[in-house]
Amino acid sequence: MLKLGLFFVVIFSLSYISAHERKLSTYVNPGCSLPPGSTRTCDDLLLVHIRSEGASDTLHHIWDFSRHPSLMLALTEKNSSLRVDWPAYVGAGAHSVSFTSRPLYVISVVVAGIIEFNDTDDSGAMRDATNQESRLIGIDGVQWRLVQPITNDSNTVLMAVEAQLANHTDANGTAPVQITMGAFGGEKRDSDLPHMLHSSNMSQMDITLDHLPPTYPRSRFGVSLLAATSDPGNATLRYADTRNIDDEYAPGVFKMVELLSSGVKSQKFELLDDDDDSSNSSSEIQYGGYVQWRPVVYTAPSRDDSQATRSVHYGIAACCSDLSQLRHMLPYKLFGNDSDVAYQMTNVTFGQPEDGFYNKTRFASWTFVVGIGSPAEETLSSFVMHMVLLGLGLPLVLVVLGMLCITVRRLIQNKDDFFLSQ
Ligand SMILES: *[C@@H]1O[C@H](CO)[C@@H](O)[C@H](O)[C@H]1NC(C)=O
Ligand SMILES: *[C@@H]1O[C@H](CO)[C@@H](O)[C@H](O)[C@H]1NC(C)=O
Ligand SMILES: *[C@@H]1O[C@H](CO)[C@@H](O)[C@H](O)[C@H]1NC(C)=O
Ligand SMILES: *[C@@H]1O[C@H](CO)[C@@H](O)[C@H](O)[C@H]1NC(C)=O
Ligand SMILES: *[C@@H]1O[C@H](CO)[C@@H](O)[C@H](O)[C@H]1NC(C)=O
Ligand SMILES: *[C@@H]1O[C@H](CO)[C@@H](O)[C@H](O)[C@H]1NC(C)=O
Ligand SMILES: *[C@@H]1O[C@H](CO)[C@@H](O)[C@H](O)[C@H]1NC(C)=O
Ligand SMILES: *[C@@H]1O[C@H](CO)[C@@H](O)[C@H](O)[C@H]1NC(C)=O
Ligand SMILES: *[C@@H]1O[C@H](CO)[C@@H](O)[C@H](O)[C@H]1NC(C)=O
Ligand SMILES: *[C@@H]1O[C@H](CO)[C@@H](O)[C@H](O)[C@H]1NC(C)=O
Ligand SMILES: *[C@@H]1O[C@H](CO)[C@@H](O)[C@H](O)[C@H]1NC(C)=O
Repeated sequence: MLKLGLFFVVIFSLSYISAHERKLSTYVNPGCSLPPGSTRTCDDLLLVHIRSEGASDTLHHIWDFSRHPSLMLALTEKNSSLRVDWPAYVGAGAHSVSFTSRPLYVISVVVAGIIEFNDTDDSGAMRDATNQESRLIGIDGVQWRLVQPITNDSNTVLMAVEAQLANHTDANGTAPVQITMGAFGGEKRDSDLPHMLHSSNMSQMDITLDHLPPTYPRSRFGVSLLAATSDPGNATLRYADTRNIDDEYAPGVFKMVELLSSGVKSQKFELLDDDDDSSNSSSEIQYGGYVQWRPVVYTAPSRDDSQATRSVHYGIAACCSDLSQLRHMLPYKLFGNDSDVAYQMTNVTFGQPEDGFYNKTRFASWTFVVGIGSPAEETLSSFVMHMVLLGLGLPLVLVVLGMLCITVRRLIQNKDDFFLSQ
């Protein structure tokens, strides 16, 4: 029974994969040239462009580490290409990044800053900034350094960068902020925890805060994110926490937090899906995007569930009264103040009550993915959950099936008898 079920799931996922594969090719600072005497040189910049060609369209991943860590996904017609006007780009010009045809959909996420707050009552969550000490560590001035050669594989692209922060020197010389990026040609589960399900329609960012010196006795850290989507200006992103099995013994691993553009369906876990509200609005839109993460933060480089705490997310706020403060960020370089773009901010912090604060391990590592379309469905893992939950129910299923077989057989026999008697 179980083997048979697994067999079908495997067959199903195999056929699913081939229909959604894309071919990747990677370009670093494509066509970069700057006039002598510019404030920056091409060597200071790091803009990675991955062309991900599907059967009928092209998905462009742009990972920009020239200032803020930024990623962008743009879905375009198949033959559309990226254009960067480098002098305007360095001068923070709107529309210095463009495509040869108007993209069908764009979603971009920027790590706008690192948050540090004093969790005075060990609640795990940042309260109103007014009654709690908190600060935003700007990271726009830092120089990102490539630490891992970019893999230029047509199926997976991986890259790691790191940065020192101003005034920060660690005894061991590890960089306090480390980021790894991934883009994928097909559907496959990440071999590292938290085992995100990768598809060809997403980019993954993994951000690690390693030995950041805490300012407060009860410091916790987090990130402030800017999200930009090519939805009409008043369309808002919304949070959907996918309901899931009780995860008391493996915090966060069985939950998924999703930030969805309007009309995008929340990820489905077959077993627990009880046709929630989001199912009816989805038919109206053609494209949409999402940001997705498991609310788990690893507190040791080894990444295992016993050394983990939770991530906490807060509300979404429209950004900003003055868009010019975004002018150094990748989405502004594409959209400027176009009216059909929604810029929004949200915060995510790392830690939960009684985990000893950041200072205990001085390490926090958190992973999220950004995708176009609707989040991939968790077929295999929901299958596993089925099995866990059906552990006791399985014998019952066998009994029912057995009875069904007998009944069918009887019916056939009866039929034969009927024909014989004719
Ligand atoms: C990746 O491969 C493509 C061709 O397949 C090549 O044009 C490009 O320069 C390569 N990029 C890097 C970063 O090696
Ligand atoms: C892209 O393809 C479309 C048709 O598929 C064609 O009309 C258009 O001219 C092409 N554009 C470029 C830049 O090749
Ligand atoms: C931070 O919280 C701790 C514990 O409540 C408190 O003693 C301390 O004064 C707070 N602020 C600073 C800057 O240390
Ligand atoms: C770095 O340290 C100097 C002197 O200690 C201080 O003036 C400056 O504000 C610090 N810079 C940052 C970004 O903290
Ligand atoms: C430096 O690294 C060693 C071994 O990797 C470790 O035992 C030690 O705690 C580290 N010290 C700091 C300050 O990170
Ligand atoms: C990826 O996007 C394409 C449309 O470009 C869509 O047909 C496909 O279903 C998407 N794949 C996944 C896994 O969402
Ligand atoms: C962090 O913990 C160390 C001991 O592990 C302690 O010496 C240090 O004062 C703590 N830092 C803060 C800001 O509380
Ligand atoms: C967005 O604004 C347009 C025009 O101002 C309006 O027609 C539309 O109903 C608004 N949509 C939402 C979701 O508020
Ligand atoms: C969808 O939800 C809305 C809001 O509850 C409801 O009014 C409508 O009848 C449902 N059907 C659709 C398509 O929304
Ligand atoms: C954006 O809007 C500001 C004023 O709101 C204006 O000064 C600026 O020129 C606009 N930029 C673009 C690229 O349209
Ligand atoms: C995120 O946190 C920072 C620092 O506490 C705060 O200033 C900002 O208003 C927060 N943003 C949102 C959208 O909550």
